[in-house]
Amino acid sequence: MGPKAEVIIELKNLTKKFKIVTAVNNLNLEIYKGEILGFLGPNGAGKTTTMKLIASLLHPTEGEIFVRENGKLQKLTSHNKDYLLDNIGFLIENPEFYKDRTPRQLLTLFAKLKGYPRDKIEDRVEEIIHMVGLSQWIDQKLGTFSKGMRQKIGILSALVHDPVILVLDEPQTGLDPKARREIRDLLLQLKNQGKTIFLSSHLLYEIAEIADRVAIISHGILVACDTLENLEAQAKSSQIQVELLNINDIKNTGIKIDKLIRSFLTDPIRYNKDSKVFELPFDGDPEKQYEILQILVENKMKIIDFTVSKADLLESLYLQHISQSDKTYKEFQKKAIKVEKII
Ligand SMILES: Nc1ncnc2c1ncn2[C@@H]1O[C@H](COP(=O)(O)OP(=O)(O)OP(=O)(O)O)[C@@H](O)[C@H]1O
Ligand SMILES: [Mg+2]
Repeated sequence: MGPKAEVIIELKNLTKKFKIVTAVNNLNLEIYKGEILGFLGPNGAGKTTTMKLIASLLHPTEGEIFVRENGKLQKLTSHNKDYLLDNIGFLIENPEFYKDRTPRQLLTLFAKLKGYPRDKIEDRVEEIIHMVGLSQWIDQKLGTFSKGMRQKIGILSALVHDPVILVLDEPQTGLDPKARREIRDLLLQLKNQGKTIFLSSHLLYEIAEIADRVAIISHGILVACDTLENLEAQAKSSQIQVELLNINDIKNTGIKIDKLIRSFLTDPIRYNKDSKVFELPFDGDPEKQYEILQILVENKMKIIDFTVSKADLLESLYLQHISQSDKTYKEFQKKAIKVEKII
């Protein structure tokens, strides 16, 4: 995503307060055309609230939302929301469907409500059902569908009118690995069709696999937003995982190796018994990565594999940002209590 990327949704100083809870706190976020933006954060962080604000299901306490239409960013207001939101498909929280309806009936209804051309609805519904491999279920009652199938129908209900943007709140939660993968593939397929996808999730692996950028929210505050690569560079933490042909290799030459690469590492070498790999924590600098690998090879370590695992990386970045935000939040609360006492 280069600097020329076009902003398709912009959130400016967006704030939503529910009595004493500030669910979204002065959020500034740009969503670029054609990207998958992963939206991460602990339970109660403000993800669903942000999405509901974009969907106009809630009104912001403060701040503004802009959506691109006809080439320009336009402020979302109560007057133009129907027209601007036609550009966006929403799946927010668990979809509940009428159990005695079929996907054909449900999706036809959604397409009509969204003003999709009537003469094209039948073909559109069949096309998208086919896309998720559920053609033989098109006239079956939704009550008989598994969770994964219902979730797919939920996503289809968001995209039946062919919007350019999709806002999906945890579309993969509660699904088995196969269903998760199918949804991941579907999201990538939609991105390849040119859609922009704003996707919340707790599944770090899924996000690491498909998101172009990641936004992390905690206590309603955006604590990070960038590509994984840039976040990694900023966090200055990374690790090379090395798998050796013979574990004893490193045991025999361990002290020598340790001495040679110690200055390149941020923490001591660890051995992960479960995955049988050595973990070499360093600051992510490619020069250092090269030096470390060079030393291992020069010392005749029989490396059969090495990786910098994206999912592990996202997890450590995520935890780092969240714990920092928890600390700041607690300090802020302490100060607020003190101020209250003084007053
Ligand atoms: N209608 C409401 N009335 C009062 N408080 C609310 C309301 N909706 C959300 N909140 C509060 O706002 C905060 C953010 O909630 P939100 O549902 O946006 O979090 P989330 O990031 O989607 O969490 P999760 O990962 O559990 O879905 C929480 O403290 C929640 O209790
Ligand atoms: Mg939520």
